[in-house]
Amino acid sequence: MNETTRIALVTGANKGIGREIARQLAEAGVTVIMGARDLQLGRVAARELAEAGLAVEAMEIDLHRQETIEAAARAISDKYGRLDILVNNAGIVDAEDGPPTRATMAAVRRLMETNFIGTLCVTQTMLPLLLQSKAGRIVNLSTTLGSLSVNGDPTSPYYEARLIGYNASKAALNMLTVQLAAELKDTPIIVNSVAPGYVKTDLTGGNGFMTPAEGARLPVQYALLGDDAVSGRFVEPQGVVAW
Ligand SMILES: NC(=O)c1ccc[n+]([C@@H]2O[C@H](COP(=O)([O-])OP(=O)(O)OC[C@H]3O[C@@H](n4cnc5c(N)ncnc54)[C@H](OP(=O)(O)O)[C@@H]3O)[C@@H](O)[C@H]2O)c1
Repeated sequence: MNETTRIALVTGANKGIGREIARQLAEAGVTVIMGARDLQLGRVAARELAEAGLAVEAMEIDLHRQETIEAAARAISDKYGRLDILVNNAGIVDAEDGPPTRATMAAVRRLMETNFIGTLCVTQTMLPLLLQSKAGRIVNLSTTLGSLSVNGDPTSPYYEARLIGYNASKAALNMLTVQLAAELKDTPIIVNSVAPGYVKTDLTGGNGFMTPAEGARLPVQYALLGDDAVSGRFVEPQGVVAW
């Protein structure tokens, strides 16, 4: 690794879209830290990529356990002294989620805790390292379901997808994108929300139109944006999404 090699952290990288983001970033020459809440699963995923000659390593990061996030930040600081790319990919859906009249409060709490608060926690903890980069990039894995405009549009194909916990947690994540992009506007850090498309993973029960590798493309594109790129955007494969 030389001084110009970029360093990325991808959360929830042991499977699904996250693993493919890690693979594609590493194929682009980035050194990738694959975050996983179960370190053994992370190591298995990292070994597979390392055997293909890619520069990756697994690190324990559980969005619910601040101590794992802080330990990861210390390890990244000691080894690399900075972080160039943070892909906030880890996320959940919940079987007890549903419309506002029926979702369980426990499910809504779990969704907010992981998808929003956990992601905010990782972002805050990694920010000092991102500020050490000449061109920090933050990609928040969102969903078109997190758009207030789409949820309120009776002509949208997503109009009936009433998952108050999931959709609200991703709308909150979008708020993080908007506010952080504004707060960091005088720094080299670029922050965007990226909806990957409808991807066949465990999260969707294997349903979807895209493979995880296809779902990783747009997040990877935004992780590798050049210096003149726009910050504080919400995009999906078809283009810009209205907040
Ligand atoms: N698939 C889609 O169609 C789709 C569409 C829009 C947005 N997204 C978003 O894309 C992201 C990736 O989704 P996916 O479809 O690839 O899902 P997935 O295959 O279920 O993978 C989710 C990843 O997040 C990890 N994770 C969950 N809770 C965590 C926690 N507390 N701490 C650390 N890691 C945690 C999982 O770890 P474990 O293996 O330990 O559970 C797993 O690695 C999510 O943010 C999702 O909301 C997906």
